[in-house]
Amino acid sequence: MEPRFPFGIPNGWYLMAYSDEVAAGQVLPLHYFERDFVAFRGESGSVAVFDAFCPHLGAHLGHGGRVVGDSLRCPFHGWRFDAAGDCVEIPYAARIPSRAKLRAHPTVERNGMIFTWWHENGDAPNYDVPDIAEWHDEGFVTPWLRYEWTVKTHPQEMAENGIDWPHFQSVHRMTMPEDRSHHFAEHVYTWSVGVSKDVSTLGDTPDDLFLAGENWGLGYSFIRQTGNQFNTIIATGMTPIDGETLHMRMGVIGEKLDDGDEATKQVLRTYIDEHRVVAEEDFPIFENKRFRPQPLLCEEDGPIPEFRRWAAQFYS
Ligand code: FES
Ligand SMILES: [Fe+2]
Repeated sequence: MEPRFPFGIPNGWYLMAYSDEVAAGQVLPLHYFERDFVAFRGESGSVAVFDAFCPHLGAHLGHGGRVVGDSLRCPFHGWRFDAAGDCVEIPYAARIPSRAKLRAHPTVERNGMIFTWWHENGDAPNYDVPDIAEWHDEGFVTPWLRYEWTVKTHPQEMAENGIDWPHFQSVHRMTMPEDRSHHFAEHVYTWSVGVSKDVSTLGDTPDDLFLAGENWGLGYSFIRQTGNQFNTIIATGMTPIDGETLHMRMGVIGEKLDDGDEATKQVLRTYIDEHRVVAEEDFPIFENKRFRPQPLLCEEDGPIPEFRRWAAQFYS
């Protein structure tokens, strides 16, 4: 039986955890890209992500590893690795073998999230993770209100869904007006759409909303929604667990309403609940479909061939 998706794991930046899931001194085992990793935050606050298994006798550093300063000590025989993954101490030996090293993966912390660069051939990052200005804005209520799922699909499929215009009507029952745009640039594709949506969040009348999305690679996207006197950002991470399964995390922050933080959070909760429903409407399709390399398209379909040409750059 052929795999449902012929892609493998795309290269790019991926959401590994929210920042508040890894406190200073904390160690977190992770399993993505068909591999095991350990994330930890040193006492000075910096985060590192390493391959999980100790080069010595193979212990998993995410299970019992201890943070010492900004280094990580293996739970088995106590070898200690610095933030670059180099072994800097063997408690019972004077000489450290030169190859005693854990592979450290490029990792950045942005917008309250920890991202790791994954590349099949180990190449260095060739694009960045954006800084979202609103995350630092006192006028916004943070941190992210969240939902997460494990979905039997691939990030390329989910990203393609964003420019699959007709499905918004058939799957999500939204009216899609004519004023929409998309642009495929280097490692980012952007799209925008004005929608008139029956939003129950702030009243009974349909509201005119403007949505502008940015997909940075295939693993991370965010959407700015304005209009309805309620400005929000939804950030979504799609991190492959393996070639056919991904961990999807969706978080929202919103501009403070006049009624204060708690009232804003209430509204945001309702708002993300609505988005959760929309996201989940796609899952039965995506968990059961197959990728068609040569789809039969009609004129009114979204820019699917263009999207796929853009997506091809993320594979080695
Ligand atoms: S397995 Fe890690 S120190 Fe021995
Ligand atoms: Fe959808």
